[in-house]
Amino acid sequence: MLRLESLTKRFGAKAAVDNVSIEVSKPMMIGIIGRSGAGKSTLLRVLNRLAEATEGTAEFEGRDILGLRGREMRAWQSDCAMIFQQFNLVPRMDVVSNVLHGTLARRSTLATVMNLYPQSDIHMAIDILDRLGIAEQAPKRAEALSGGQQQRVAIARALMQDPKIILADEPIASLDPMNAQVVMESLRRIHDEDGRMVICNLHTLDTARRYCDRVIGMRDGRVVFDGTPEQLTTGVARDIYGADASFSEAATSTEIETLNAPQAVPVTA
Ligand SMILES: Nc1ncnc2c1ncn2[C@@H]1O[C@H](COP(=O)(O)OP(=O)(O)OP(=O)(O)O)[C@@H](O)[C@H]1O
Ligand SMILES: [Mg+2]
Repeated sequence: MLRLESLTKRFGAKAAVDNVSIEVSKPMMIGIIGRSGAGKSTLLRVLNRLAEATEGTAEFEGRDILGLRGREMRAWQSDCAMIFQQFNLVPRMDVVSNVLHGTLARRSTLATVMNLYPQSDIHMAIDILDRLGIAEQAPKRAEALSGGQQQRVAIARALMQDPKIILADEPIASLDPMNAQVVMESLRRIHDEDGRMVICNLHTLDTARRYCDRVIGMRDGRVVFDGTPEQLTTGVARDIYGADASFSEAATSTEIETLNAPQAVPVTA
């Protein structure tokens, strides 16, 4: 289904993604872990064509996605919706309009400028918000919502694209444990119910273990682990994070980088 072969992305002499080969044969929920700078975000950006690969190939359903141009490339970008740590909503705009932004790729410039949306799209947006448990927030400004609610709005916006893959870059890194759980459960449900592939960069081991079918560990741009949550033992995790003997189960890339930052709350129930 998704096949990456010797995928490499260099910034100058530095390989942010280094010779990565991954094969995914059916829609799965995949977690990518690794310490800060391991190349997790760059890998997602290359997949989504926000960044150009330096070398290697990437195929989805047998089609080369790195060679797509113009309209075909935009269609692909719509097929793999991105979700970001900071939600990337328009704060002053109401929730339903933020969700409708997910249809931008298939709308005319005039309709966009005039803020005209077909009735069917508005109904679809409300239905998706309802599915995520936040339909009653639809008329509010995005900035009035909690972080967890805002991230669900971002997921709703992604679903408006009817994507085949959801690429989530640290979607819960800015959330408290309760909201983090709600957002991860939403992503898992979208995978289970819709059969969409979800690839999720995560900075806590236990989150990857709890929600993902498969975990990929990156270190210095390379894949150093690719297996099931059961195979992700503490020893393997220590190897991925490159931590010393003081490594603990709760350690995360964020924690290792910012040990003194009180906002870096790992999801350890
Ligand atoms: N636009 C860029 N220009 C130059 N170097 C970059 C650029 N983007 C990323 N890098 C470098 O590539 C490497 C991988 O970065 P990346 O952001 O993919 O890591 P990450 O695993 O997502 O880290 P984090 O957990 O902090 O988000 C880092 O060394 C980073 O400094
Ligand atoms: Mg990152």
